[in-house]
Amino acid sequence: MPQGRTHILKVGEYLMAIEGLAMMRHILTDPARGRERGRDVQRILENLERPPQSLDLPVTEHDVATGYTAWAPLYDGEANLAIEREEPIVRSLIEQLPPGSALDAACGTGRQAAMLDELGHRVIGVDATEAMLAIARTKVPAGEFRRGALETLPVDASSVDLVTCALALTHVPALAPVMAEFRRVLRPGGRVILSDMHPFTAMTSGVAVIPRADRSLGVPFVENRVHHHSEYIKAFHDAGLRIETCIEPTITDDMIPRFPTYALIPEGTRDALLGMPWLLIWQLAS
Ligand SMILES: C[S@@+](CC[C@H](N)C(=O)[O-])C[C@H]1O[C@@H](n2cnc3c(N)ncnc32)[C@H](O)[C@@H]1O
Repeated sequence: MPQGRTHILKVGEYLMAIEGLAMMRHILTDPARGRERGRDVQRILENLERPPQSLDLPVTEHDVATGYTAWAPLYDGEANLAIEREEPIVRSLIEQLPPGSALDAACGTGRQAAMLDELGHRVIGVDATEAMLAIARTKVPAGEFRRGALETLPVDASSVDLVTCALALTHVPALAPVMAEFRRVLRPGGRVILSDMHPFTAMTSGVAVIPRADRSLGVPFVENRVHHHSEYIKAFHDAGLRIETCIEPTITDDMIPRFPTYALIPEGTRDALLGMPWLLIWQLAS
């Protein structure tokens, strides 16, 4: 979809997409449940001209620069399900490492930089979006924050003990140049901790939705690109990074009511999403 252009999706069309995923998951192994989802689709179709099915959802794609510049003032204040699921897992990995020099790559508003600082690391943060960096500088006064790209990090070779990169690799077109940079800036024996949306999430319309301050209906988003495990593994291997841990957190029952379709199609939402891979977390060693 071209950047910045809006197309209109009907609420009913989105509900049918979720029901379709639910049906796909269960139609062969639990046909009664699959058929129930088919009946939901029929009901949605019959009511497509009535609210809420008939309501318009304006859908607008933004690139990283415009998307995160708009998101910056709301980023820390809004509930974020991916962050809630990711944070305790990544924190427990970081806690097992000795404090040292850490680079938080694509640091955003400094969420993880603040955690690294609290755990005793000297932190450098790099991000492409100045509006996100401005918040990080206030949040972590002891940190050093630089504008730059993951593919050409403004960081000296062999200068850090740890690289973290959270919820950003899904925005880059290719992993190989980024992994080469992570390897370049790491000291021998250093670690890398990566967390991101799972490729399955990115393949099923799991975009990065920018919250709207006025709460109006709509889906402004930054695209999440699909990086399969094989692409990660080749990029790690080519950069000389060894896999120590791979974790794939799934969508759990307590998360289901947090998805926006739950209020209208609770069973369809549960059948579509429960147990699906949601995030992908790696720990690597140089
Ligand atoms: C979802 S936010 C994550 C921020 C932070 N890591 C966190 O987990 O809270 C994604 C961030 O990645 C940054 N970003 C995306 N692509 C980038 C690139 N190629 N180089 C540097 N930063 C990038 C964006 O500016 C944004 O701040």
